[in-house]
Amino acid sequence: MTTNAETKKIAVIVGSLRKQAFSRKLALALQELSPKSLALEIVEIGELPLYNQDLDPDAPPAAWTTFRDRVRATQGVLFVTPEYNRSVPGVLKNAIDVGSRPYGKSVWSGKPGAVISVSPGALGGFGANHHLRQSLVFLDVPVLQQPEAYIGGADKLFDESGKLTNTSTREFLSKLLERYVDWVARNARG
Ligand SMILES: Cc1cc2nc3c(=O)[nH]c(=O)nc-3n(C[C@H](O)[C@H](O)[C@H](O)COP(=O)(O)O)c2cc1C
Repeated sequence: MTTNAETKKIAVIVGSLRKQAFSRKLALALQELSPKSLALEIVEIGELPLYNQDLDPDAPPAAWTTFRDRVRATQGVLFVTPEYNRSVPGVLKNAIDVGSRPYGKSVWSGKPGAVISVSPGALGGFGANHHLRQSLVFLDVPVLQQPEAYIGGADKLFDESGKLTNTSTREFLSKLLERYVDWVARNARG
């Protein structure tokens, strides 16, 4: 993707591998609603082998290295995740672990972040949202505090083509993105 000097490249990590995932549809809506100052790129996590510390630092799988390089090249990270058993899906936790190592070389460190949880349920993935925030505190990711984003009733927000059609959710996400632009600018390091 071509970006100008003002554009901030943001890694979007989607916590579901399901083809019709609500979280992926929401990530695509974020791309559509995003202001020009952000370039949102979905960085895929489905092909990452499970983290095994025996392989670091001498023999990391190529998929780990590619993932780490892609996240490292961004100026922020935006997580869009479902909730599994009141926490984050294992596939997302694996990606976080892969990105966090080798020790001292975490790709997450200092990247301004935001967390959006998505669920068909009424609680909007609150448990996953806050479990993820717990990891991000340790990983030194400054996470946007407001607005909090617990997107509930996700099965009613999209049309058959996967487009986000719910007006209030579109407005909410646009506001969140505006705040995130500011957050990235204020928390940029280096
Ligand atoms: C293993 C598993 C655990 C789940 N646990 C929760 C849960 O704790 N809270 C919740 O709101 N939904 C839960 N669900 C339902 C998901 O919210 C639902 O399947 C949703 O569509 C998954 O997100 P996606 O559409 O982005 O793939 C769970 C689903 C699975 C497969």
